[in-house]
Amino acid sequence: VNPVPARVVENRRECERTRVLRLEPEEEVRWLPGQFLMLGIPGVDEKPMAFSGGDERELVLTVEVVGPFTRRCARLRPGDWVWVRGPYGRPFEPVGRRAAVVAGGTGVAPLVPLARWLRERGIRVHGILGGPHRDRLPRRRELERFSDEFYLTTEDGSAGRKGYPTDVLEGLLRDGRVDAVYACGPEAMLARVVELARRFRVPCQVSVVRYVKCGEGVCGSCALGRGLLVCRDGPVFWAEELEGTEFGRVRRGASGLPEDEERPRS
Ligand SMILES: Cc1cc2nc3c(=O)[nH]c(=O)nc-3n(C[C@H](O)[C@H](O)[C@H](O)COP(=O)(O)OP(=O)(O)OC[C@H]3O[C@@H](n4cnc5c(N)ncnc54)[C@H](O)[C@@H]3O)c2cc1C
Ligand code: FES
Repeated sequence: VNPVPARVVENRRECERTRVLRLEPEEEVRWLPGQFLMLGIPGVDEKPMAFSGGDERELVLTVEVVGPFTRRCARLRPGDWVWVRGPYGRPFEPVGRRAAVVAGGTGVAPLVPLARWLRERGIRVHGILGGPHRDRLPRRRELERFSDEFYLTTEDGSAGRKGYPTDVLEGLLRDGRVDAVYACGPEAMLARVVELARRFRVPCQVSVVRYVKCGEGVCGSCALGRGLLVCRDGPVFWAEELEGTEFGRVRRGASGLPEDEERPRS
């Protein structure tokens, strides 16, 4: 896939650490919820980001500022040029009639357009968004808008229910109120989502992050084990597909070493 130049039309602060970028690509980019693109800043780098709203002419991204590239994203101004490559990866598949859409922090990025898409297909959406505190709940208004029922959780209890999104999910599953689960967020949360979905025998799809370099199934950087590549076979996986992989156990950084071994030892 060739890179397409895209103009920044908006870069707004969404909440603590998170920006929402709106881009206008020079050519249409057709995508589905769950897919991602490679965002390039000339002279800086290129990194994977989920499609987080808009349509083929206007792309919305939800960017959490965590390091050099995303800090540079935060400084982009309207009129600046970037490039986008994509779409890549496997999207979510709509199943069931009553969905739980479970977002942990920036994991909300692909779930906003997913919630909208499910609603358009007549599927009832229980949207759940969790974060550490009330200033770290990105895209809260949009997820709420596309949900029939909406639940917030914070670890410190400063907004919504005190606890984790998986606490709400467990209650919904126990009460038989949902028949499909979709999730994106920190891997520990996803592992718990997968465990709950298995226990209550409900189909479950999760969007998994690994170190993506080429995005095209060539370099092997995003290998998850058992021959699966996140950029080609994911980032959305059915829960059963993740059995026996590194999901929930090991996460590798840029060099391919487990992330905790990459950091210099003191
Ligand atoms: C399919 C996919 C979709 C993503 N969607 C989003 C999104 O919508 N919003 C968002 O804020 N972030 C998203 N990310 C993560 C995002 O790519 C990284 O946070 C970003 O590349 C960090 O770069 P940095 O230089 O700012 O930070 P660094 O200091 O380089 O790294 C900070 C953290 O980001 C991870 N990271 C760095 N580069 C990559 C990479 N090439 N691939 C995967 N992880 C990386 C590192 O392992 C580390 O955990 C997504 C990742 C993947 C694989
Ligand atoms: S990022 Fe190169 S194979 Fe997936």
